[in-house]
Amino acid sequence: HQSNELASKRIIISLGGTLSPIDPVRYIGNRSSGKMGWAIAQAAYHMGAQVDVVAGRTSISLPKLGDRMTIYRVQTTQDMYETINQLFDKSNALIMAAAVADFKVTNYADQKIKKVAGQEQINLQLEPNIDILKTFGEQKKDQLTIGFAAETQDVIENAQQKLTSKHADLIIANDVSQSDTGFNADTNKVTILRPGYDPEPWAQDTKQAIGVKLMQLVNSMLKK
Ligand code: PMT
Repeated sequence: HQSNELASKRIIISLGGTLSPIDPVRYIGNRSSGKMGWAIAQAAYHMGAQVDVVAGRTSISLPKLGDRMTIYRVQTTQDMYETINQLFDKSNALIMAAAVADFKVTNYADQKIKKVAGQEQINLQLEPNIDILKTFGEQKKDQLTIGFAAETQDVIENAQQKLTSKHADLIIANDVSQSDTGFNADTNKVTILRPGYDPEPWAQDTKQAIGVKLMQLVNSMLKK
């Protein structure tokens, strides 16, 4: 499906997982494959948009689809924030499909941590990272800011709270407690939350199909 409905639009899509390094060889990570965000990026591209993909660690490859797509590779949440910050003013929408590490290791070790005989515990100290979606939600001019909410319980309530606290225009609530939805699956089941609208559950479908449907919704919101 090719069209040019988004021909004059520039869309930032974050995907994959950001990492919290512990030492030069180890990190805390998460299970995001990048599949959901990549499905959205493909849909946006095929609708004619200029697409900026800001990718953390992914388990899929991200073949650049053409000149209208730029792929930025980042590691930490701070890197992801700084990359998006360079792009945000020129963009029409930011879609945060990435699983963003909420914490960074404050006692990062410059050298590889050694196993010491007899040592029973190693303590990692964590401090909060910047909330990217919230930061841009507060700063935006006419951009749409869109996030996911990965939840294992009280999915709609928790997602509704994120919609408000992050000043988002759309939250895609994602039940990640089942193996055929959420992290790494090829299918997903989502509910769409928008300020002033009732929650809209979408039928379980492939991430590809959900990506297309989501970009059609974003297109209709950008026209307003
Ligand atoms: O990559 P896949 O394997 O296909 O899996 C897809 C997915 C489950 C990772 C994806 O659909 C998803 O739900 N991504 C968001 C995961 C997440 O971090 O959710 P959250 O509820 O912790 O965060 C809410 C929103 O704020 C998200 O849009 C997140 O990108 C954003 N966020 C979170 C923390 C932070 N410090 N900065 C952020 O911008």
